[in-house]
Amino acid sequence: MRIDIITVLPQLLESPFQHSILKRAIDKGLVEVNLINLRDYSTHKQKSVDDYAFGGGAGMVMGIEPIANCIHALKAERNYDEVIYTSPDGEVLNQKMSNHLSTLNNMIILCGHYKGVDQRVRDHFITKEISIGDYVLSGGELAAAVISDSVIRLIPGAISDETSALTDSFQDNLLAPPVYTRPADYMGMKVPEILLSGHTANIENWRHEQSLERTKQRRPDLLK
Ligand code: ADE
Repeated sequence: MRIDIITVLPQLLESPFQHSILKRAIDKGLVEVNLINLRDYSTHKQKSVDDYAFGGGAGMVMGIEPIANCIHALKAERNYDEVIYTSPDGEVLNQKMSNHLSTLNNMIILCGHYKGVDQRVRDHFITKEISIGDYVLSGGELAAAVISDSVIRLIPGAISDETSALTDSFQDNLLAPPVYTRPADYMGMKVPEILLSGHTANIENWRHEQSLERTKQRRPDLLK
C-alpha cells in the first residue's frame, strides 16, 4: 500500500509514522507513506497556497492551483484508488471504512486547512471526504494520521499477533471485552476466576458475553 499525504505541515506528520506499529509496517515494506509539501507545488513567489474567499467573509481558502498541480503530478506516476479529503463535514470514519481502505493499493490524503478548500477541488479531484468526528481540528493533519493509523494496522502482517486486529473493538460491531494481566490478585482486587481456568471455550463465551454487555451499556446504537 502507498499513502501520499498532501499537507502544508509535513513536519507535524512525521512523528506518528516513526513509532510502534506504523513504523514496523513501513520498515517491513507493507506500506509506504509519503509526506508531500503542498507549497512545493505553489507557483507564487511566497509559496502561498491560500487566498481570500470570493464573496468576502473571514478566513482563507486553499486554492485549486497548487492542489491540482500536486495531484496531477502524483497521478502521472500511478493510479489511485481513492483521493481523500479530511474535513469535519465528511463522512464520519468508522471501522467498516478503515477495513475497506486497508484493501486499497494507493491513496492520496489531502489535509484540509484554513476555511477549507476551493469547492472545485472537492468536485473534481476528491473521491472520498472523511471526518474523524463531530468536532473541529485546526487542520486535517491529525485526521490524516488517525485515518492512516486505523488503516495500516489492518494490513496483514502489520500486527505481530495476527488475530489481534480482529478482536479489536468495532470488529463485529461489538466493543472489546475487559482484559487483565498479572497479578491475579492485587490487594484483594481479583481477576475473574474464569480467565484463570484454562478452559478456552468457556473463556471465549465469557468474552463474547462481556463484549455484548459492554456494547449494550455504552454503545447500544452499534447493536441496531
Ligand atoms: N479538519 C478539521 N476538523 C476535522 C475533523 N473533525 N475531521 C477531519 N478533518 C478535520
